[in-house]
Amino acid sequence: MIPALQIAQGLYGYLPEAVLRHIATKMDKPYSEVAGVVGFYSFFSTQPRGENVIRVCLGTACYVRGGKQVLDSIKKELGIDVGQTTEDKRFSLEVARCFGACGLAPAIMINDDVHQRVKPARIKQMLAPYYETAAEKV
Ligand code: FES
Repeated sequence: MIPALQIAQGLYGYLPEAVLRHIATKMDKPYSEVAGVVGFYSFFSTQPRGENVIRVCLGTACYVRGGKQVLDSIKKELGIDVGQTTEDKRFSLEVARCFGACGLAPAIMINDDVHQRVKPARIKQMLAPYYETAAEKV
């Protein structure tokens, strides 16, 4: 079921209820089971996400080295809370529990890029390249 959900999220950008019901029907599973899997894994989203997804690690190593301050700085910079997307749909903010960069904590991921030893005071500078739209990058 997880690969099917990953493919669907890749196609739609998120997992709307109609898609979950379709997957449940096709896999002969109850809707509640499919919704439960989606709710369990933080990388699945039932809400449309922004163009860039920021994941702030709050695993132990990152937390003790300032991960919470990094998160607060990003919230302040973007004016959103965890689980929200900016009005311009450019950024969504999520938290994570370790993505294997503990030695260089605190770490965040922006899309597939891992940023290590992140300093709260440098968040604005770090996000600047991501204000460029996908069309502008081509
Ligand atoms: S605890 Fe943050 S990367 Fe491991």
